[in-house]
Amino acid sequence: MAKLLSVFCLTAASLSAVSSTTVAEIQGPSWQSPLAGQTVQNVTGTVTAKGSSGFYIVGEKSDDIRVSNGLYIFSSSSTVLNSVAVGDAITFNGKVSEYRSNSNPNYLYLTEITSPTSIRVLSSGNTVTPVILGKDRSPPTQLLSALDTGADGFLSVPNNSSRIEEVNATLRPDKYGLDFWESLEGQLVTIPKPTTLGFSNNYGEFWVHGDWLVTGKNKRGGLTINIGKDNLPDGNPEAVMIGSPLDGTKNPAPSLGSQFSDITGIVTYQFGYYYVLPLTAPSVVSRPDTTVPSTTLTNAHKLLDLCTITFGDYNVENLTPTSAHLPTVASHIVNLLKSPDFMFLQEIQDDSGSKNDGTVSANVTLSTLTKAIYDISNVTYAFTSIDPVNNQDGGQPGGNIRTAFLYRPEVLKLVKGTAGGSIDAVKVGGFPGFPTLNFNPARIDPTNGVWNATRKPLVAHWRTVLGADLFTVNLHLSSKGGSSSTQGDARPPVNSPIENRTGQVASVAGFVKAVLDKSSLANVVVAGDFNEFIQTRSVYKPLTSLLTDIDEAAKIPEYERYSYVFDQNSQQLDHALISPAIKRRKVEFEHIHVNTWSPSLASRISDHDPSVGRIRLC
Ligand SMILES: *[C@@H]1O[C@H](CO)[C@@H](O)[C@H](O)[C@H]1NC(C)=O
Ligand SMILES: *[C@@H]1O[C@H](CO)[C@@H](O)[C@H](O)[C@H]1NC(C)=O
Ligand SMILES: *[C@@H]1O[C@H](CO)[C@@H](O)[C@H](O)[C@H]1NC(C)=O
Ligand SMILES: *[C@@H]1O[C@H](CO)[C@@H](O)[C@H](O)[C@H]1NC(C)=O
Ligand SMILES: *[C@@H]1O[C@H](CO)[C@@H](O)[C@H](O)[C@H]1NC(C)=O
Ligand SMILES: *[C@@H]1O[C@H](CO)[C@@H](O)[C@H](O)[C@H]1NC(C)=O
Ligand SMILES: *[C@@H]1O[C@H](CO)[C@@H](O)[C@H](O)[C@H]1NC(C)=O
Ligand SMILES: *[C@@H]1O[C@H](CO)[C@@H](O)[C@H](O)[C@H]1NC(C)=O
Repeated sequence: MAKLLSVFCLTAASLSAVSSTTVAEIQGPSWQSPLAGQTVQNVTGTVTAKGSSGFYIVGEKSDDIRVSNGLYIFSSSSTVLNSVAVGDAITFNGKVSEYRSNSNPNYLYLTEITSPTSIRVLSSGNTVTPVILGKDRSPPTQLLSALDTGADGFLSVPNNSSRIEEVNATLRPDKYGLDFWESLEGQLVTIPKPTTLGFSNNYGEFWVHGDWLVTGKNKRGGLTINIGKDNLPDGNPEAVMIGSPLDGTKNPAPSLGSQFSDITGIVTYQFGYYYVLPLTAPSVVSRPDTTVPSTTLTNAHKLLDLCTITFGDYNVENLTPTSAHLPTVASHIVNLLKSPDFMFLQEIQDDSGSKNDGTVSANVTLSTLTKAIYDISNVTYAFTSIDPVNNQDGGQPGGNIRTAFLYRPEVLKLVKGTAGGSIDAVKVGGFPGFPTLNFNPARIDPTNGVWNATRKPLVAHWRTVLGADLFTVNLHLSSKGGSSSTQGDARPPVNSPIENRTGQVASVAGFVKAVLDKSSLANVVVAGDFNEFIQTRSVYKPLTSLLTDIDEAAKIPEYERYSYVFDQNSQQLDHALISPAIKRRKVEFEHIHVNTWSPSLASRISDHDPSVGRIRLC
C-alpha cells in the first residue's frame, strides 16, 4: 500500500513531499536512489549505530536482496545526535541525497538523508539484529562489476570505458562484489571470524574476509589474484575494508593472516572503497608464525651438475650506501636466498642516494652491499649495472634507481665486450646458433619513448665455467601510480600507465625475439619487477608468446604466486620468464615471503618479496 501511494505521489505531484516513505523505497534496487533530491516524510526506522556526524537506521525488512534497508542520516548538529540513541524506533523527515566524499569524481555515491527534521522517538530499547555475513548473505567471490567488460575482466583494456554511476544499473548482488556491498549500504552486519589480508594504512584501516566462501586463499591466509572460473581474473570482491571504530576505540595492527574477533559494524562507502565501520575495535585472536623458511634451492656446484645455476630476484626498495636496511638485504641474500649464483636487483640508487647532486654511479651502493654479503658469508659477488642519464629514469628524484646484477665470478662471467652507455641500444648479432651482443652489458632501446622517465632494462650475456651461455634481462617497468580504486566509478578501473607497460613489454620482447631468432636454443631469463599481474594478459602477450612464466614451469600452486600485497590482494608484480630451452629442462622456483609475512609494517624492509630459481643451462 505504502509503495503504491508513494509511486502515485511521485508521478502526480513530483515536486511535493512523499508521504511515509520506507528505507527500502529510498534505497531502491539501483546504485542511485529513485528519490534522490526529494524531501521524504515520516520515514521510520530503528537506530543501529551512531557516529560523530550522523547515525544509521534499519527500516522494515526488505525481501528484495538488491535493496538495502539500512540508511545513513547525516547531521553535524549535536542536538540532533543527542536526540536519538541506539535501539530507538524513530520517525523523521529529511532530504534524500547522493553524497560523494571529498568530491573525488571516481568515488561512488552514498545514499543518505541530509537535514533531518521532526525526529520523534516512538519507543526505546529495541533490539537491532545485524545481518550475519556468511550466513544470511554471502559476497560473490570472483567479479567486481558487470561493467568490467573485456577479455581480462577488471584488468581489461580499454579501462574506464564506462562509469557505474552514469549507467546506474539495477544491482546484481549475487554475481558482482560491488553490487553486493552496495546492496548492504547503511546496514548493520557481523563479520564472523575475520582474517586480515595485510597491514593497516596510516588511518588504522585494513582488509578482511570473514567466515564465508572465498577463492584464491593462500596458505598464509591472504587472497591471491588468480584466473577464476569463466577464465576471468578474480579480483577478490569477497573482501571488505575495516574502518575506524564508531566508538573512537583503535583497531589493533593487523598483518597478513591474523585472526581477529568478530566485527559488527555498518557497511558504508568512503574514500573510494566499501567499508565496514566497527561499532567497537575487534581484538586479536591469533597471529601467524613469523618464521620465514629459507630457500631449499641451493647450488652445491657438484662436479656432475655444473649445468645447474641458481638466481635470486629482489626489489630492494631505494637502496643507498647508507640505507638502514642494507645489512638486512645482505642477510636475506645470504640466509634466506642462500647466496644464489646471480641476483636480479631492482631499485639500486646512486652513490649519493636521493641527494640530487648529479651523481649517477652506483659503485659505492653496490660495493657496500657486496661487502656486507662477504662479511657475513665469505661469498664474493661482482656486480654490473649501467648508469642512467641523470634524473631520466624516474623513481625518487635524485636517486637514479636502476636494475643491477650481482654474480659469483667463480660460477659465471660476463662474455667479454664493451659495456654500453646510458643511451646505447643493445643489438643482437653473431652467427646462426651463436647470438652475440654489440655491448655487454647493455640497455634495451633506451631512447624509445616507452622508456621515457622510467628505468631502462639491463641486458647481460653470461658464460658459465663450463661454457654454457645465458642471456638475462633485468627490468623494472613503470609503476601503477595513478591507477584508480578497484571499487571506484571507472570500469574497468584505470590501470595506469598501462599503455607504457604494454609498450615496454613489447620493447623487451623485440630483444628476446632477436636472440631466439638467432638461436631457438638460447638460454634466456627475463626477470624483475614488472609492476603488473600476469593476469593482465594483454600486457604480457608479446613476451608470453616467446617465453614461459617460471611459476607455471615450476608448477607453483596458483594461489601461492605472490610477491606483494596491495588492498585486499596478495598479488605478483615480480616475475621471471624463461626461454623454451630452459623450460625443457628441470625448472624450480620459490617465493620467499619475508616481507609480505612481516609481523608489522615497520619491520619489513621492502614492499616486495624476493624469489629464488634453479635452472639448467645444459
Ligand atoms: C506524517 O505524519 C504526520 C503525523 O502523523 C501527519 O500529520 C502527516 O500528514 C504525515 N505526512 C504525510 C506526508 O503523510
Ligand atoms: C537510478 O536508477 C533508479 C531506478 O532504480 C532511478 O529511479 C533513478 O532515477 C536513477 N538515477 C539516475 C541519476 O539515473
Ligand atoms: C585508461 O583510462 C584513462 C583515464 O580515463 C585514459 O586516459 C587512458 O587512455 C585509458 N587507457 C586505456 C588503455 O584504456
Ligand atoms: C574516466 O573517464 C571519464 C570520461 O572521460 C573522466 O571524466 C574520468 O575522469 C575518468 N576517470 C578516471 C578515474 O580517470
Ligand atoms: C665504477 O666501477 C667500474 C668498474 O670497476 C669502473 O669502471 C667505473 O669507473 C666506476 N665508476 C665510478 C664513477 O667510480
Ligand atoms: C670466512 O673465512 C674466514 C677465514 O677462513 C673464517 O675465519 C670465517 O669464519 C669465515 N666466515 C664465514 C661467515 O664463513
Ligand atoms: C608514458 O608514456 C608517455 C609517452 O611516451 C610519456 O610521455 C609518459 O611520461 C609515460 N609515463 C610514464 C609514467 O611512464
Ligand atoms: C617524458 O616524461 C616526462 C615526465 O613524465 C614528461 O614531462 C615528458 O613530456 C615526456 N616526454 C616525452 C617525449 O614523452
